[in-house]
Amino acid sequence: VTGSALLNAEPQMRYPKIRGIYGIILFLLSLTAVWGNYVNMSFLLNRSIQENGEMKLERKIEEIVEPLREKIRDLEKSFTQKYPPVKFLSEKDRKRILITGGAGFVGSHLTDKLMMDGHEVTVVDNFFTGRKRNVEHWIGHENFELINHDVVEPLYIEVDQIYHLASPASPPNYMYNPIKTLKTNTIGTLNMLGLAKRVGARLLLASTSEVYGDPEVHPQSEEYWGHVNPIGPRACYDEGKRVAETMCYAYMKQEGVEVRVARIFNTFGPRMHMNDGRVVSNFILQALQGEPLTVYGSGSQTRAFQYVSDLVNGLVVLMNSNVSSPVNLGNPEEHTILEFAQLIKDLVGSGSEIQFLSEAQDDPQKRKPDIKKAKLMLGWEPVVPLEEGLNKAIHYFRKELEYQANNQYIPKPKPARIKKGRTRHN
Ligand SMILES: NC(=O)c1ccc[n+]([C@@H]2O[C@H](COP(=O)([O-])OP(=O)(O)OC[C@H]3O[C@@H](n4cnc5c(N)ncnc54)[C@H](O)[C@@H]3O)[C@@H](O)[C@H]2O)c1
Repeated sequence: VTGSALLNAEPQMRYPKIRGIYGIILFLLSLTAVWGNYVNMSFLLNRSIQENGEMKLERKIEEIVEPLREKIRDLEKSFTQKYPPVKFLSEKDRKRILITGGAGFVGSHLTDKLMMDGHEVTVVDNFFTGRKRNVEHWIGHENFELINHDVVEPLYIEVDQIYHLASPASPPNYMYNPIKTLKTNTIGTLNMLGLAKRVGARLLLASTSEVYGDPEVHPQSEEYWGHVNPIGPRACYDEGKRVAETMCYAYMKQEGVEVRVARIFNTFGPRMHMNDGRVVSNFILQALQGEPLTVYGSGSQTRAFQYVSDLVNGLVVLMNSNVSSPVNLGNPEEHTILEFAQLIKDLVGSGSEIQFLSEAQDDPQKRKPDIKKAKLMLGWEPVVPLEEGLNKAIHYFRKELEYQANNQYIPKPKPARIKKGRTRHN
């Protein structure tokens, strides 16, 4: 079109030379146009092939990815549903609570209660006797935090209340490393009191009936000063707790820190450590495994056991009360060790025999709390009957034994090593 337009446009173009040049130009222009069209077309063609390929690939990827997305959605759903239900507390009522030793037996039940009540709970534990499994059902919850930390080292966090439970509690555990037990109860308690002072938090100390030692009065009330052997095998724990109490009242008087002191008596329930070594867990495990139930001495020494949920309720009531002097928390229902052995044997339905061994050193002969003060000032008393509590503990230990049996690590036999060189006669 361009060429013919040129030929027709100017009369001088009819001369042959000029016409030749214009012919060449015409030819070149047509060639350029054809080449341009070709390049354009092949570009479009390539692009559509490429786009087609990309779409197919995208569709393929989508087909693979969609089921995975579905699985992630399901997992997320099950993840958010797995937490036990928690109450909603307004900003004003919700407290930031630290539980030292919160991955232990009592601490984990306290964690459950405070979480379900709607508070923000930080558990600090060095996992000496505690386990992540005890609080794993809260891991990931927005109100929960777990910190692996030793209270012998200072801790800097912001909290409103501190339940200071960190300390090994059973004789085999606290005797395992008496110096560490002393450090935990002295330096650890100083650190927590320092934290309480810094952030203006209230601190509750988990003290123990062991501060009464081998008591000369019966039952033991809070006024009794105790009968402790300061250099005996239990001293690291008994004296550690006694000085921890002293520290609380020094911080209260000198620094105005609000303190609460619970003198806890023997407690039992699910999540007690398998190697706890205390009477109830020993007897239950022995009965479940068909082993003899071992009684130290004649078995006439008495004990009174409270179920863990009663203790946890008592701790929370005490923390939120205005009672700053020590309070006994325990179940006054007293039984001889022999009676416990017989009862547990019956509840398990075990054929185990009862075996008498020589008396343990510094083993208190009598232990029974006087809980008049807790009743009067806190309106608290234990409510779970002994048999009901024991059945729950037995159920727990039975499941734990099954769990252990199913998760046992059985090492594969190693292939025999083939020695090079001389053969040996074995
Ligand atoms: N269970 C009872 O019968 C009983 C009786 C009297 C007093 N108490 C007191 O109650 C508290 C809890 O006892 P429990 O029976 O749950 O014992 P537990 O051994 O199950 O729990 C103690 C927890 O403290 C942790 N812990 C120990 N040393 C620590 C350290 N240095 N830093 C951080 N964490 C540390 C352990 O790992 C564990 O999780 C203890 O202070 C104990 O003295 C318990």
